[in-house]
Amino acid sequence: MIELHNICKRFGSKIVLDDVSLKIEDGETFVIIGQSGVGKTTILRAIAGFFNPDSGEVLIDGIHMDRATSRVKANLREKMGFLFQSGALINWLSVRENVALPLVEHRIGTKEEIDRIVDEKLELLQLTDAAEKMPSDISGGMKKRVGLARAIVRNPRIILYDEPTSGLDPVMSAKIDELIIKMKNELKVTSIVVTHDMESAYRIADRIAMIYKGSVLQCGTPEEIKNTTNPFVRQFIEGRLHGPIEV
Ligand SMILES: Nc1ncnc2c1ncn2[C@@H]1O[C@H](COP(=O)(O)OP(=O)(O)OP(=O)(O)O)[C@@H](O)[C@H]1O
Ligand SMILES: [Mg+2]
Repeated sequence: MIELHNICKRFGSKIVLDDVSLKIEDGETFVIIGQSGVGKTTILRAIAGFFNPDSGEVLIDGIHMDRATSRVKANLREKMGFLFQSGALINWLSVRENVALPLVEHRIGTKEEIDRIVDEKLELLQLTDAAEKMPSDISGGMKKRVGLARAIVRNPRIILYDEPTSGLDPVMSAKIDELIIKMKNELKVTSIVVTHDMESAYRIADRIAMIYKGSVLQCGTPEEIKNTTNPFVRQFIEGRLHGPIEV
């Protein structure tokens, strides 16, 4: 289980996370929605232990992330895959080498084993033909899928996806959604997905949390969110210009 207890984080004078509490069950697909700049990526980064919050606690399987030794932390991180919003591909490595990176870095497997695992992930994400290309020579949607292949290459138990379908066409988005659902059903993966894509959110989520100004405004099942009477959440999910949300 992943627990966030009263997380606060400021950068300079700006309060980015303001008392965020969430509980995500094992095997759950938990979707985070909200406007640009409300702190969604920062929540994922807090879960991954990229920084220590100013106050509050992140617990993964009951272990306090900020109190854990670097070794325990490294063990927990090994169970996690992170799909970065920007893709974060390494420009001077080929698609194949980018995907293999987490395995090479942690010296997992022989050259042949690494090639086999990477080929499998590339095929899963329809990237086989792009294996030897450089990131500068592939499309934005392909970069996203390379980032995704890299995030899942070590078969993590927890996957943090930062906008996995942004920049993808609707058919590819549906395919990524299918992959997220498949990993949940077959591998019991816990997924936390930040998205602006409400269609995708309804398709994959067990629960959806809407973040507004660094806090959780509402958290519920897709049905509960669809039928919400909260005017902020309504405005957001309907994509209306006029309403209480400050733009
Ligand atoms: N390391 C940092 N230093 C300073 N400010 C930061 C840092 N990380 C995030 N912020 C600020 O925190 C706020 C929330 O950022 P975050 O990336 O979490 O937003 P987001 O909800 O993911 O937005 P988007 O949908 O555009 O990706 C922004 O105002 C951002 O500028
Ligand atoms: Mg973000």
